[in-house]
Amino acid sequence: MTERTLNVGLLGCGTVGAAVIRVLHEHADEIAQRAGCRLSVARVAVRDPARPRAVPLGPDAFTDDPLAVIDDPAIDIVCELIGGVEPARALILRAFAKGRSVVTANKELLANHGQELFEAADAAGQDLYFEASVAGGIPLIRPLKESLTGERIGRILGIVNGTTNYILTQMSEHGWSFEDALTEAQRLGYAEADPTADVEGFDAAAKCAILASIAFNTRVVAGDVYREGIAGVTALDIADAARMGYVVKLLAIAELEDGEVSARVHPAMIPVSHPLASVRDAFNAVFVEGPKVGQLMFYGRGAGGDPTASAVVGDLVTVARHRISGARGVGCTCTQDRPIRGMAGTRGQYYLNLHVEDRPGVLAEIAGHFGRNGVSIERVWQEGTADEATLVFITHRAREGDFQKTVQELRALTAVRAVTSVLRVEGEEP
Ligand SMILES: NC(=O)c1ccc[n+]([C@@H]2O[C@H](COP(=O)([O-])OP(=O)(O)OC[C@H]3O[C@@H](n4cnc5c(N)ncnc54)[C@H](OP(=O)(O)O)[C@@H]3O)[C@@H](O)[C@H]2O)c1
Repeated sequence: MTERTLNVGLLGCGTVGAAVIRVLHEHADEIAQRAGCRLSVARVAVRDPARPRAVPLGPDAFTDDPLAVIDDPAIDIVCELIGGVEPARALILRAFAKGRSVVTANKELLANHGQELFEAADAAGQDLYFEASVAGGIPLIRPLKESLTGERIGRILGIVNGTTNYILTQMSEHGWSFEDALTEAQRLGYAEADPTADVEGFDAAAKCAILASIAFNTRVVAGDVYREGIAGVTALDIADAARMGYVVKLLAIAELEDGEVSARVHPAMIPVSHPLASVRDAFNAVFVEGPKVGQLMFYGRGAGGDPTASAVVGDLVTVARHRISGARGVGCTCTQDRPIRGMAGTRGQYYLNLHVEDRPGVLAEIAGHFGRNGVSIERVWQEGTADEATLVFITHRAREGDFQKTVQELRALTAVRAVTSVLRVEGEEP
């Protein structure tokens, strides 16, 4: 009996695309056994087909015309690894219209146009798989969409950007400034020449939107995610956090509370005892909480050609199995229309460091502002110099809006010379 072959049309052959071709070649026999068919990369679209590439494919496979790949009747599955919104969006829509299933690693596209893509997949009766779009090689989308469908996930806390985690790790472990750690990250290839997408939290916000959409069965787009990057984190913040038993991480946080979804990305202090605190360098980890399953942590390499290719190839095998059996996988899981809770309505703990006049009554005056805004103080301590004192507060869980109003009022007090540091605190037991 001849073994069936399904043809993959690849769009993009960069870091991930080239690694996908190599994994499909190196693991061809295992993949054929698992998929029930051979997976062959038949055609590849790139910008520059003449460029030499370290992949086991002849030059005839390459074209600079993505439509020549998508429209080729021999292609069964289109694998989009170009990145960015256009032309990736239009190409995926075309692939569905032509009756191809699609595998992609494109977080930006999913986080902004997920609904449109799923509608097109449904209309065409095809699969859309995107495991590699969040946290590279770490299986996360399928566990959330399939393995955890019996659970009511309440919260996801994730370190989903390796560049910023590398920078914060260097700042913590070597006392470096943000600028020095960024320069080192760029020298080692962990950060792009233009690091904006990573450092300002755009990359993490797109991933947060995808995770929140799946975990809470409601459409959350990148623009719904509150976003603060790490450029404002100082060596002093990190040193203070360490002194108090915390580390600073850029967290993506998605929560479901009272039927409302909140999604945010910002630096936060987490206790050194929290499992996410030990996630160093460019590693990623996602912590998922549910009432029945308890706490789960998914940990591993969130980027890089081979880890990401592992996730992409897993999707290709899944889609191939469906084509062989005539089935379809799980489509869009956004069955609800939940309201998005704005940042001011979220709740958390806060760390605040103030330089104040060292005179009687100042602490009481400041505590009064906390109290009037309904923010209660969990811990406070004071370190004095000649005529100035440092006051450090950690609050109980409070509404973000109430805490920010308190900080605004404190800034206006003559007794407060400077608000030197404000950081959110996450990961404490509620
Ligand atoms: N890199 C990672 O670690 C990682 C991790 C997780 C997810 N992802 C996602 O995976 C996707 C690919 O990332 P990557 O790092 O592999 O990108 P990359 O190295 O920049 O590769 C992009 C590829 O797309 C091709 N390309 C660009 N525009 C094109 C066009 N208009 N028509 C045809 N081909 C075009 C390029 O061709 P040339 O080679 O001729 O320039 C290149 O081969 C992105 O969505 C990214 O977010 C990447």
